[in-house]
Amino acid sequence: MKYAVISDVHGNYPALKAVLEDAKKQGISAFLFAGDYCISGPWPDECIAAIKGIDDKHVIRGNEEKYLENLIDKDQSTWTDGQMQVSYWCYRNVSRENLDYLLSLPHRDDFEYKGIKIHMAHSSMDFMGSHPFYTWNSVTVAERNRKGERAPEQILSDMADERERDPEFKEAVAKLEKGIYIFGHSHVQCNYTDKSKEICMINPGACGLPLDGLKNSAPYTVLEITDDGQVSIEEKRVPFDKDKYVSEMKLSGQYLEANVWSRVIMQEQITALEHMYFFLAFVGQYAKDIGDERRPYALDTWEKAYEIWNREYAK
Ligand SMILES: [Fe+2]
Repeated sequence: MKYAVISDVHGNYPALKAVLEDAKKQGISAFLFAGDYCISGPWPDECIAAIKGIDDKHVIRGNEEKYLENLIDKDQSTWTDGQMQVSYWCYRNVSRENLDYLLSLPHRDDFEYKGIKIHMAHSSMDFMGSHPFYTWNSVTVAERNRKGERAPEQILSDMADERERDPEFKEAVAKLEKGIYIFGHSHVQCNYTDKSKEICMINPGACGLPLDGLKNSAPYTVLEITDDGQVSIEEKRVPFDKDKYVSEMKLSGQYLEANVWSRVIMQEQITALEHMYFFLAFVGQYAKDIGDERRPYALDTWEKAYEIWNREYAK
């Protein structure tokens, strides 16, 4: 059995389409989806419809499905949070039927194939506690790329080597029961196998918003389990039309309604590097500096902070 493992589509239908076609070309018909399907990209409904249309699949929720759930039946006239504009737009542009589908998804899925347990959750923290291991974190990738000393592929390889040596990581792995662990959330494609403990961990990266420094390609991972229980993993990158993403984003309702968020996301899309984390930290500091510490951020604070950040800090 071959599974295509896909996560963090984030409303990027061209990337999802490219990945599904690539998987189909290889005769793969079973899919594992690890959450965050529609917020941040201009094609939320198309992404959900494509996933719904697949027969053989396991699909779980991500943290961003919760953001949509929190908006159900709320008074939209009170929606004034700059940071939440992108969720407001997504909520208004997903059909109720598709929203109900998203909200019917479980947080976890644990199943068995050929006697091997497969565990799915959106974040590794669901399996390994609250430590956000820096060796598969998009912030680490961005900081190292900014230094410009190593090529993106080398940075990922360094991080994998460091993971092998990280005592905290090893300690957390030692507490897991044997099986395959599928997750996403960090937007960095990686995998880890401990043969002696029969543990395998797979993060297929973010199909729709990769932040591992590898530009112009949508990641997914092929998990193969043979009839006699042998497990193999292959990481894939599929070209997708990033220029189309950017040009259609600029014409989209999301770009109009959630302009700051959309522009930061486009910077991430173009560089394949984390920007939102740094921008949110900047907004927090800016709001503090101007004495506007109440949340939600006033739209004016949110937009002014972006203007400064984009001019002086964004690369
Ligand atoms: Fe995500």
